Amino acid sequence: MDNFEFLSPTKIIFGKGTENQVGQEIKKCGAKKVLFHYGGGSIKRSGLYDKIVASLKETGIDFIELGGVQPNPRVSLVREGIKLCRDNGIDFILAVGGGSVIDSSKAIGVGVPYSGDVWDFYAGKAEPKETLSVGVVLTIPAAGSEASKSSVLTNEDGWYKRGLNVEIIRPKFAIMNPELTFTLPPYQTVCGASDIMAHIMERYFTHTPHVDLTDRLCEGTLKTVIRNVPIVLEQPDNYDARAEIMWASTIAHNDLLSTGRVGDWASHGIEHELSGIYDVPHGAGLAVVFPAWMKYVYKEGVDKFVQFAVRVWNVDMDFEDPERTALAGIDRLKAFYKSVGLPTSLKELNIPDDRLEEMADKCTAGDTQTTGNFKKLGKQDVLNILKMML
Ligand code: NZQ
Ligand code: ZN
Repeated sequence: MDNFEFLSPTKIIFGKGTENQVGQEIKKCGAKKVLFHYGGGSIKRSGLYDKIVASLKETGIDFIELGGVQPNPRVSLVREGIKLCRDNGIDFILAVGGGSVIDSSKAIGVGVPYSGDVWDFYAGKAEPKETLSVGVVLTIPAAGSEASKSSVLTNEDGWYKRGLNVEIIRPKFAIMNPELTFTLPPYQTVCGASDIMAHIMERYFTHTPHVDLTDRLCEGTLKTVIRNVPIVLEQPDNYDARAEIMWASTIAHNDLLSTGRVGDWASHGIEHELSGIYDVPHGAGLAVVFPAWMKYVYKEGVDKFVQFAVRVWNVDMDFEDPERTALAGIDRLKAFYKSVGLPTSLKELNIPDDRLEEMADKCTAGDTQTTGNFKKLGKQDVLNILKMML
């Protein structure tokens, strides 16, 4: 196990009716004026918008609002949000929605006190030193942004999708009521589950030895998602199953599962090129990338893939042929994706084969950088994996 520091400071407020506490929680943070940031309208249809407004008014919190965050959030709206905050003396951002709204909020938060352009942080040209505080009411378990140190934005100028990873952007609090996820359409539900599973698997596949505890935590979290997704597809308003998945989304990505080990993250890098150019849901893209990545790299550490197959997918161990066991685990993962309605090929995502080289190039900064750690991948490796996804 490697040395590590772990701090996950986001206060989690979990359970039925908790969204009504939002005004009180913001007050505890000492906020004077709030930007209420949300997406394309699901919160208005579900009635959550009215509850948030009521809670803010009840606690006497002054606020303005900015809706319209798109999935795969854009830097243009972030720039608009930054101006709005500066013009109105905003000192706190309330994100009500999923990863896209939260990431847009985090970006506005670091952009307000910065004199340059906010994209500098995503292009790796500058590191944010301060931020406005962000609070969250989560409506979709998926990205884990409610407690993560990440924000992912898309720049329409070149369709670059890039992440910022820095401790100061972890939200102050995350209100998580599983009932708010009952309205999720099946496809969004499974895209979210795929992202949760991916966050665990990115951490799981490592060469760091003696990580028994975190291996078992990863396996347990994965098995929880795998067990409960079919239940919520049958019964969208099953509170207990929705609750298991919602808590898994946070645990998968608040860095508890990466303590003492090196993660991989190549599949996320490759997926961000897919959703950057083609605007597909991140979780759908990951369901296509992950099995291909696994088949490309498993020989670098067959034992880990055997462990994954046996412990997570209950594959019978073939002592004569460990590689067969490893491959059976990958096949089970792919079969699970298919069984819940996720795509497993670029074709199913309606992605043609004419820009694979461009994506491989962007993913490796023109072949000047590698991506991933389990196996360090250059441009040709990424291209090979993309071709396996056709
Ligand atoms: O915009 P509205 O109308 O609210 O609809 C949303 C959106 O269309 C809908 N939705 C959300 N909650 C709902 C609902 N519909 C009905 N009922 C509800 N309760 O779902 C759609 C998707 O929302 P989005 O926020 O885009 O989903 P998700 O949470 O999967 O976030 C995806 C984004 O997060 C990034 C992804 O790359 C992508 O841009 N990620 C962020 C990470 C982070 N910050 O730590 C890590 C991840 O790896 C990921 O890259
Ligand atoms: Zn993800």
